[in-house]
Amino acid sequence: MNKGLFISFEGGEGAGKSSVITLLTTALIEQGHKVIVTREPGGIPIAEKIREVILDREHTAMDARTEALLYAAARRQHLVEKVIPALEQGYIVICDRFIDSSLAYQGVARGLGIDEIWSINQFAIEHLMPQLTIYMDVTPEVGLARIAVAAGREINRLDLESNSFHDKVRAGYLTLCERYSDRIIKVDANVSQQDVYRNIFNIVSAFIEGK
Ligand code: TYD
Repeated sequence: MNKGLFISFEGGEGAGKSSVITLLTTALIEQGHKVIVTREPGGIPIAEKIREVILDREHTAMDARTEALLYAAARRQHLVEKVIPALEQGYIVICDRFIDSSLAYQGVARGLGIDEIWSINQFAIEHLMPQLTIYMDVTPEVGLARIAVAAGREINRLDLESNSFHDKVRAGYLTLCERYSDRIIKVDANVSQQDVYRNIFNIVSAFIEGK
């Protein structure tokens, strides 16, 4: 049995996940919690290599199913090497993206189907799901505008997708919020970073206290 807590963060491009995760982690550590922050795709060397293959802007020929399988492969390795050991040691594991990214991006936006993507991912994760998922909801207009002004941010293959792709990603996430309403909490991320953070801090603190 895992002693830790597994929390994932989700959102479209420019939702502001990484800033909120940084602030939240600092606050939780100050309160004396053991916290590990990680991200997908990546988080460990093998998965970072898979990430490079997926996100390479030259790889315009990549088939949608190949993409879905690579994300699932990176997820598997990351889970086994990093997430599960940390949970067993009692850490709060905060993961920047997890299975819901695949369900929204590959399942809905790429049109492969939520159930198909759910099923290949169950092979990868063997039903180890986050106990809590924070979905930071931002309209593609706001999110993509934030990315455009963010200095030093690398633009990857998925960032270059059309506006309609990003609209579908958001629609996908909203479907997931309804389908998995017992696990996913939706937070309005169109407002100021301070307000978004305060809201998320309260949600996560209440969740931790309830455990
Ligand atoms: P990244 O630069 O980490 O994005 P962000 O900062 O927005 O989290 O790039 C990851 C990209 O991969 C992002 O566009 C979302 C996409 N993605 C999927 O399409 N499926 C997945 O399963 C995961 C984990 C990410």
